[in-house]
Amino acid sequence: KQIKVFAPATVANVVCGFDVLGFAVNEPGDEVEMTLTDQPGVKIVQITGDNGKLPLESHKNTVSVSVQHYLKHINREDVGVEITLHKKMPIGSGLGSSSASTVAGLFAINQLMGSRLTAKELIPFAMKGEELACGYGHADNVAPALMGGFVLIRSYDPLDIISLPVPTNLHAAIVYPEVDVPTKDARQMIRTKIQLKDAVTQWGNVAGLVSGLFLDDLDLVGRSMKDVLVEPFRSILIPGFEELRNIAIENGAVGFGISGSGPSVFALTKDSLTARKITDLQQAHLTKMKINSSAFVSAV
Ligand code: HSE
Repeated sequence: KQIKVFAPATVANVVCGFDVLGFAVNEPGDEVEMTLTDQPGVKIVQITGDNGKLPLESHKNTVSVSVQHYLKHINREDVGVEITLHKKMPIGSGLGSSSASTVAGLFAINQLMGSRLTAKELIPFAMKGEELACGYGHADNVAPALMGGFVLIRSYDPLDIISLPVPTNLHAAIVYPEVDVPTKDARQMIRTKIQLKDAVTQWGNVAGLVSGLFLDDLDLVGRSMKDVLVEPFRSILIPGFEELRNIAIENGAVGFGISGSGPSVFALTKDSLTARKITDLQQAHLTKMKINSSAFVSAV
């Protein structure tokens, strides 16, 4: 039995919702080809598109590790699995690259095993992959990659995950400046103690953003896309961050911020033309700064 599965990139945090909000885009994403064999064990046979960056060893690769956890859970460690991973998105970009591979692998094995679990039930296994990739099993990439649209992680313990409505015609304009920002390092930059007044600002914005999604009120969504806790520190790692923000806002973006842990940035827009205009201008700005970049425009 054989299957090929695509899983999408995701924008985690959505500015104010560190570790609790994320949404999926249509592209880019990763592809996994999976074959069942008679030889028990999970094997990565090939990885393409990663420039040799990802480990082939089963205990080190996020795809095989999460598939192993899944097989253990359903008591099928007798099963043999061969995996080919096609990386079709940049690694370490802040677009949920490890999440896309892991989710494609988990979705594939679940299909081959007769859809024993729902997409939502696969989330804890995907979080094992994130733990391996960046030291913490955050769910704000894997949950939207599995469920689509906007997702809220209301609680991690116990896990409580809620699908949120997606406003009509919402688009994402994503630009990836090609500088290295590993999530592990970007997580270490954040303060772990915060001021009450900053917490008040932050939870006001999270509630505002979620309300905006429910009310289909993009102005409210935009007003709420502010982050006083994480962005001030992480934005230092992103070349031209303030200029990229000005370009987005001056050209009609609903809101702008860091995608996941960066260095990618994203803007939400009301249509694809505005999104394309913003990414074109931002890329031109990065070119002037002598920084290579790639851009993705997608419906949310
Ligand atoms: N919430 C995570 C972080 C997302 O900001 O570290 C990483 O993509």
